[in-house]
Amino acid sequence: MTSHLFSPITLDGLDFPNRIAVAPMCQYSADDGSASDWHLQHWMNLAMSGAGMVTIEMTDVERRGRISHGCLGLYSDANEDAARRALDAAKRVAIPGTKFGTQLAHAGRKASNQRPWEGGGPLGPDQDPWPVVSASAIAYADGWQVPHALSEAEIEAMIGRFAEAALRAERAGFDFIELHGAHGYLLQQFLSPLSNVRTDRWGGSLENRMRLIVEVARAIRRATPDLMLGARLSVSDWVDGGFMPEDGIDVARALKDVGVAYICCSSGGNSPLQKIPAGPGYQVHLAEAVRKGAGVPTRAVGMIDEPHQAEAIVNGGRADMVALGRAFIADPRWPWRAAAALGHDLRVAPQMARGAYLAKKWSAA
Ligand SMILES: Cc1cc2nc3c(=O)[nH]c(=O)nc-3n(C[C@H](O)[C@H](O)[C@H](O)COP(=O)(O)O)c2cc1C
Repeated sequence: MTSHLFSPITLDGLDFPNRIAVAPMCQYSADDGSASDWHLQHWMNLAMSGAGMVTIEMTDVERRGRISHGCLGLYSDANEDAARRALDAAKRVAIPGTKFGTQLAHAGRKASNQRPWEGGGPLGPDQDPWPVVSASAIAYADGWQVPHALSEAEIEAMIGRFAEAALRAERAGFDFIELHGAHGYLLQQFLSPLSNVRTDRWGGSLENRMRLIVEVARAIRRATPDLMLGARLSVSDWVDGGFMPEDGIDVARALKDVGVAYICCSSGGNSPLQKIPAGPGYQVHLAEAVRKGAGVPTRAVGMIDEPHQAEAIVNGGRADMVALGRAFIADPRWPWRAAAALGHDLRVAPQMARGAYLAKKWSAA
C-alpha cells in the first residue's frame, strides 16, 4: 500500500518528507517573548514525532502583540537567542528531513489577555495590562479593551516589524515562516468587515482590507527571500455579514501572487457571535475550495485525528497537507501510529526503534 499522506511534498523549494504538520499551538510559557525550558522539551519532543512539518506557535512581532504575558515573540535579541537555543537542540534530535517553521503574528485587539488557565479574559488593572491596537476602535466583545485604530504611519511601522521578525526567524534557524492571518488576530482584524470599518486605503473594499496581509507578506518575502512563506487564514468568520469563503479564495490568490507557498485553511475567532459547525474535518471543505479556487497548495486542519481520515483528505485531492493540533498533545508520536495504520515504513530515531512495534499493535487494535 502506498500512502499519499507519507509521500513527500516540496513547497517553494523546501522539501518535506511527508504531508503531516504539527499545527501551531501557543504554550503561554515564554519569558518576555523568549522560549523557555518548556519550549525546549516541547520542540525536541515534536522533532521526534515523525511529522514532516513542525509549525511552532504564534510568535509575536512586538511586545504589545502578545496575547498574554506568556506568549512567544521575536522582537528582541534575547527572543532570537532563546529561539535559536531551543531550535538547535530540536534539530539535533529531529528525524532527518523534519522542517521547523514559526508562525509570525500580532494579536491586535485580542492582546493583553490572561493565559487560558488563568481565565483567558482581558488582563485586569492589577495584572499589568497594556493598550491594544487594531484596524478600528471596535472591541472584540463586551468588557474587552477598545483598541486604538492604527494610523497610516503605525501600519507602515507594523509591516516593518513583521519583516524584522522574519529576519530574526531566519537567523534563529527556522526553515520557513507561516503568517498568522487567522483566529481574529491583527491581520484578520483588517481582513474582516466585522472589525475593519476604516475609510482609508486599509479598509472598505476587500482589496483594501487585504492590503495589510498582502503588504506584510510582500515585506517578508523581500526581507527573507530564501525562506519559504506560508499563511494561515480564517477562511470564514461564521457570522452573517462577515468574511466569507469567497473572500478567502481572493485573499489566497493575492497571497500566492506575492510568493506565499501554501494556505492553511482555518476559520473563526474574530467574533463571539460565530456559529461554528465543529465536527470531524469540519474545515476540510474550506481547504478544498481555496485549493481549487486560488490554485495554491493548502493545508487542512481541524478535528483531523484518524490516520485513514487524514489519508483520504490528501489522497482525494482535497488538500495537499494536513495539520493536527490536539492529536499531537495527546500523542506526540501520532505519525508512528499513522504509518503503521497506512502501511508506511517510518524511520524513527534508533534509540526509539524498539518501541515502534507498539505503534503497529495499537493501530491494529
Ligand atoms: C493549546 C492550543 C493552542 C493553539 N495555538 C494556536 C496558535 O498559536 N496559532 C494558531 O494558528 N492556532 C492555534 N491553535 C489552533 C490549532 O492550530 C488548530 O487549528 C486547532 O486546534 C484545530 O485543530 P485540531 O482539531 O487538530 O486541534 C491552538 C490550539 C490549541 C489546542
